[in-house]
Amino acid sequence: MSPRPLILLGGTGDLTGRLLLPSLAHLVAAGATAPPVIAVATDDLDEDGYRTWAVERLEAHAPEADRACREAVAERLGYQRGDATDPGALRTALDRAVGFDAGAPVIYLALPNGILGDVLTALEQAGVPDGTMIAVEKPFGVDGADARRLNRQLHRLIPEPAAFRIDHFIAKRTVLNILGLRFANRLFEPLWNNQHVEKVEIVYDEILGLEGRAGYYDKAGALRDMLQNHLLQLLALVVMDPPQALDSTTLPSRKADALRAVRVVDPVDAVRGRYGRGHLDGRELRSYLDEAGVDPDRSTETYAEFVVHVDSWRWAGVPFRLRTGKALATKRKEICVHFRPVPHSPFSGAAPEPNVLRIKLDTDGMVLELDLNGEDDPFDLERRRFETDPAPPPVPAYATVLESMLAGESTLSISDVEAEESWRIVEGVLAAWDADSSSLVEYPAGSDGPVPPASWR
Ligand code: BG6
Repeated sequence: MSPRPLILLGGTGDLTGRLLLPSLAHLVAAGATAPPVIAVATDDLDEDGYRTWAVERLEAHAPEADRACREAVAERLGYQRGDATDPGALRTALDRAVGFDAGAPVIYLALPNGILGDVLTALEQAGVPDGTMIAVEKPFGVDGADARRLNRQLHRLIPEPAAFRIDHFIAKRTVLNILGLRFANRLFEPLWNNQHVEKVEIVYDEILGLEGRAGYYDKAGALRDMLQNHLLQLLALVVMDPPQALDSTTLPSRKADALRAVRVVDPVDAVRGRYGRGHLDGRELRSYLDEAGVDPDRSTETYAEFVVHVDSWRWAGVPFRLRTGKALATKRKEICVHFRPVPHSPFSGAAPEPNVLRIKLDTDGMVLELDLNGEDDPFDLERRRFETDPAPPPVPAYATVLESMLAGESTLSISDVEAEESWRIVEGVLAAWDADSSSLVEYPAGSDGPVPPASWR
């Protein structure tokens, strides 16, 4: 049977061209059948024109997939000119999707989050077939009130398990490994609490700058782009209680419980930075304000950092430091669990260094730092790193997300409660930043970013 049809609203957008169509090519390369796709956008294109556009994007963004795989995707592409907020256009797209006789469609809103409400209203007017899944890109809404409104709209259209709020981070193999590490080993869970963990850092430092994405990013900024969703999801996986099963009800519920307990410590101390001119490896880097399409009046941040506590029996008092930024000197993407020191050291020299577990978020696996007896003097201590050496993931995270929604599976979706709680957590920070324009500090591109408060270091 043919996979269910995919209606892509925002069919000529950056996300579709850079990630979604390439992900389909990766899935085909991994053995899947390409789904029929109806791309909806306002550009004046016919089907051939759209396929030409799509083939160029596939060549640019899925060069590793065989030409035959890219063609298999392109062959299944249809195009419909229309506005995603127009119920008539949506009805036509839905009728075409039903015509494939391949099950209820997945409607993917690959659109700016400011218009999601209007699109859902149009879908309510158009009516969707039973079994339709609706996928919504992150950030889910522009603030907490908007997220609640969008959830109400989604629930009028479809049941919660058919809503797929996207966060590709939880589909990264390195991130899903947190589940294996914590719940398939006896070793860590007894130590996974405030008795044994001193602090945790969740860091996603990027070297890349804006990459031509001002249209989206300048309205979002680092906090809404990364912290409110991706980093809070990582936090939820680290702090949640053990789930009874890994299914679409249980896993999101455990993460939701975890997020309910999260509180930003002193929102006014949250660090907000924007990269200025700088250097990296002898190259001159332009400032954020010099990037095409940036509006200086928006005061958009490209760096955000804050500390949260998780108000629960298990985690009370442990600081979790979350940070992300663009145009930084070093790519550092990891969750770093710092354990407490041993209660007593029988060694006469310096005290042993506390253990550190690094869960790398790129493809470089995990590192456990231990202190062991030295090779020369057996009563001396040496730091040793035990590292995993994982194979690269078979498909990128976005492909995993698409694969699961095309199969009607929503374990990797963000639930309604998680989306709303994630906004609740950051609202105090956003309010503090709005109230104080001097909170935005500049850091040179290619540097380590703004200096955080001394008490966090
Ligand atoms: C995206 C953000 O969701 O995640 C980007 O919009 C960010 O700004 C990206 O660069 C990071 O994810 P990845 O998987 O590309 O490292």
